[in-house]
Amino acid sequence: MKSNASASDALVSNSIVLNADALAQRSRAREDPKTTPRASNAFGQSRLVYRDVTFTIARKGGDKLVLAPCSGVNEPGEMCAIMGPSGCGKTTLLDCLAKKKTAPYGGEVYLNGAKRDALYARLTSYVPQNDTLPAYLTVRECLKFVHRLRVEGTMAEDERDAAVLECLRLLGIEDVGDELIGDEHRRGISGGQKRRLTLARGLIGGSQIVFADEPTSGLSATDAETVVRAMCVASKKLGVLFITVIHQPRAEVAAMFDSLVLLTSNPGRMVYSGPFADAVSYVTKAGFPPPRTCNPADYLLDIITPGAWGEQSNFFAQRYIDAQMAEVEARVDAALKQPTKTSMAVLQDAYAVQGFDTKNLHNSPVAANFPTQFSTLLSRELTMTKRNVSALKVRFGVALLQGIVVGCAFFNIASRPAILQLSFMFMVLQMGTIANMAILPKLINQRFIYRIEISDGLYGAVAVTICNALVNNTLAILSNFLTTIILFSLSLLPWRFFGILYAWSLLSFMVVTAYLRVIAQIASSGDTAIQTAMPFLLGTILFNNFFISRASGSFLKFLIYVSPMAWAIEQIATGLYENDQQMMSLYLYKPSNSWTMVALFVLLGEYLVFQILEFVALRKSKGPLR
Ligand SMILES: Nc1ncnc2c1ncn2[C@@H]1O[C@H](COP(=O)(O)OP(=O)(O)O)[C@@H](O)[C@H]1O
Ligand SMILES: [Mg+2]
Repeated sequence: MKSNASASDALVSNSIVLNADALAQRSRAREDPKTTPRASNAFGQSRLVYRDVTFTIARKGGDKLVLAPCSGVNEPGEMCAIMGPSGCGKTTLLDCLAKKKTAPYGGEVYLNGAKRDALYARLTSYVPQNDTLPAYLTVRECLKFVHRLRVEGTMAEDERDAAVLECLRLLGIEDVGDELIGDEHRRGISGGQKRRLTLARGLIGGSQIVFADEPTSGLSATDAETVVRAMCVASKKLGVLFITVIHQPRAEVAAMFDSLVLLTSNPGRMVYSGPFADAVSYVTKAGFPPPRTCNPADYLLDIITPGAWGEQSNFFAQRYIDAQMAEVEARVDAALKQPTKTSMAVLQDAYAVQGFDTKNLHNSPVAANFPTQFSTLLSRELTMTKRNVSALKVRFGVALLQGIVVGCAFFNIASRPAILQLSFMFMVLQMGTIANMAILPKLINQRFIYRIEISDGLYGAVAVTICNALVNNTLAILSNFLTTIILFSLSLLPWRFFGILYAWSLLSFMVVTAYLRVIAQIASSGDTAIQTAMPFLLGTILFNNFFISRASGSFLKFLIYVSPMAWAIEQIATGLYENDQQMMSLYLYKPSNSWTMVALFVLLGEYLVFQILEFVALRKSKGPLR
């Protein structure tokens, strides 16, 4: 009895302690994040200067100005907001500054007085508007992956773990550290947590500048505030400069920004550039005081949005030129007169202050060496494949079902004439091609992640191409093997036929898989991918040396020399039925094995060509098209 009483006392006192903890945490969260002291390992020390950044689209009827020349200076540890009506060029300005714009643009951007170089990708990070996160990793694994690739050199695992934990804490997501991220098919962390994880990915490698495109859009007001608060704490604590496109911030959220770049649209022009807190008094002084009860940020947007009631966009665009531009340009000039610091020196200092090894720092845009890139990617790919059990079940389930259904249709084909057996062989080849189409959506999902990570300098196109080929080919080969072995068992053909049939069907299958991987890289979406893939696949199936062979009257019959299936079926036929004169003369198959080497050469050559094309497509893309 007594022990029970003391146990319940302990429970009560524990819960009081817990409540007190929660209260303390809450009041901490209520503190002004701008007063967060700078940490001893604050690595941010970079100033960004841009001059006359401008973007024009070349069009037939005359060029269209999207963004008129913009200039500005941002200091380390600053929270800078970019605001403006939709289509005014906020993302465009952000992309130009982040070096992510793929279309040509004008103006210059300087990091600590020096023009941006190959190290820029390692010193900055970009948080795109949509979270593109690997669904089947835990939050912690996701950050560790980035840390491993962004912070070069050997480092004890627990050091990396500690860095990851610090980052999780900083963004307030340590509670979900071991949860899977998830996606539309699998429940995972919440939208707000995903945004904070995306920000954490940007911070973890020691970025000097984080560019974020609408990190709060689509979140509840409370979540939005938590996200911006986390950014603000990180900026003050670590000296990281945040340049953020933001939409409709609440007053509390707006108060966390130091500076504001306000743009108007048609065309995109600066209307205000200066301290966020001074923006309302700036428009008031110009003769447009806000009504007494309104959110200042909403008012600012209303007054510079073309088409809105009472808007003054042209007035404020002119006023910027008259009242602010000279001052901004003077700040740009003054900043560029300061001593410059090379990006290597910045990187070295940032490493040193975080206690990382600076001995072997190098100038390449990717921090990790090739073996690290490859092994880190491979281990992530394997982890995710293993965890996505439902995808594996579907893939192998379908392979099994296909094998059984088609196998039953061709049951005991061994007892039928050779010519009918050949149509069975053709079906085996065809099954592989069809099964391949099902993996296109997965490949397309993957490519967004790859492109963003390549453009962030996490790894190079070589590592990801090899890793991708290895994992995807292994899966494809296994499922294809399953279908083939079932089909073959049900055919009751002698097992000595199996080797030749399987070897050639596998080769032709690999060519088609490699081809689809190229399509997945170049198609703009899942739908266009399937449409783009179709003509070649149909051609492969049609000019397969069976429907259309050398004996056919089609003037296109030369295409059988391109179709991997045609080479495969001829080799299977000549390998298994060379003595069947009727078959040989019906399709005009070459009677000896003299073509075997040629067939091997063509199929391997085609595979190689597609593999190289995939690599080139990955390498050429600077990220998603912008
Ligand atoms: N590479 C491009 N090619 C053609 N048009 C572009 C390109 N980049 C941006 N635009 C156009 O520029 C305008 C501004 O776009 P954006 O910067 O995304 O606006 P927002 O302020 O809403 O972020 C839009 O009309 C967009 O279609
Ligand atoms: Mg935008």
